[in-house]
Amino acid sequence: MTAVLEQTRTPGLAARPLAGKVAVITGAARGIGAAIARELAACGTNLVIDYAHSVGPAEGLARSLMSEYRGVEAVAVQADVADEAQARGLIAQALRRFDRINILINNAGITRDRTLRKMTIEQWREVIETDLNSLFYCTQPAVESMIEAGGGRVVNISSITAESGNVGQTNYAAAKGGMISFTRSLALELARYDITVNCVAPGFTETDMVATIPGEIRDMIVGRIPLKRFGTPEEVAAAVRFLCAEGGYITGQVINVNGGLYM
Ligand code: CAA
Repeated sequence: MTAVLEQTRTPGLAARPLAGKVAVITGAARGIGAAIARELAACGTNLVIDYAHSVGPAEGLARSLMSEYRGVEAVAVQADVADEAQARGLIAQALRRFDRINILINNAGITRDRTLRKMTIEQWREVIETDLNSLFYCTQPAVESMIEAGGGRVVNISSITAESGNVGQTNYAAAKGGMISFTRSLALELARYDITVNCVAPGFTETDMVATIPGEIRDMIVGRIPLKRFGTPEEVAAAVRFLCAEGGYITGQVINVNGGLYM
């Protein structure tokens, strides 16, 4: 039995389609980012696990992935990607550690939900800085390495809110919608280098982020979802894995993982 488990956790090369690749995942200590880290590690990817504050979870995740997936190297790096210098420093550290970046997952995101009439300029700015400006800060230096490597993958984690709108989320919708437009333009610019750029747009997913939704509103949202439940981080991560491992002819797209809430 032990041998069988061992084999499952250290699969052969065929089962590790991204063996030896290097991925940077922003905001990867918890939630969807951590699930993406687990999914890519299972494919053999070496990881830079970025975190802003959650040092314990990020370092614990890196350690557990290295012990679970033999040959995978994972390192936790602190950087608040809302800050240009820290974001660029993250990419520089990844390059110092691994010499290359093949995959960039722009996942870090925050909400500061408030209807527009009550929203403060700080709530607007914080969300735009973290959820949108970080894409510019991280992606610009990372793509240079992908061009040198002869190809790459950029996956941006957007949101259903970008497409459907949501009460209390004008800041978040603007950032996540901007992310989709950024994705399409960058996909056009980078196709000639065999770099694909896509979005995954999760619906309501069981993470700390949805814990801020008041109970009665949560019930109302679940009632509107055709599949009648929130998604899991693993269901979102599976779409990211697909784009990275098998999505060579998919670029400039948005893959919705939302239980049918927005079609
Ligand atoms: N649909 C319809 N009505 C809604 C609503 C919704 N989804 N959410 C809030 N409302 C209503 C409220 O019930 C309230 O109605 P009344 O005036 O009749 O009471 C009105 O909109 C808002 O009035 P408030 O004075 O309470 O507004 P506020 O500025 O204090 O903001 C709120 C309240 C922050 C919007 C709060 O209602 C809330 O947190 N709503 C949930 C927001 C949400 O869905 N966030 C998603 C988090 S998860 C995520 O972001 C991940 C992702 O990618 C999807």
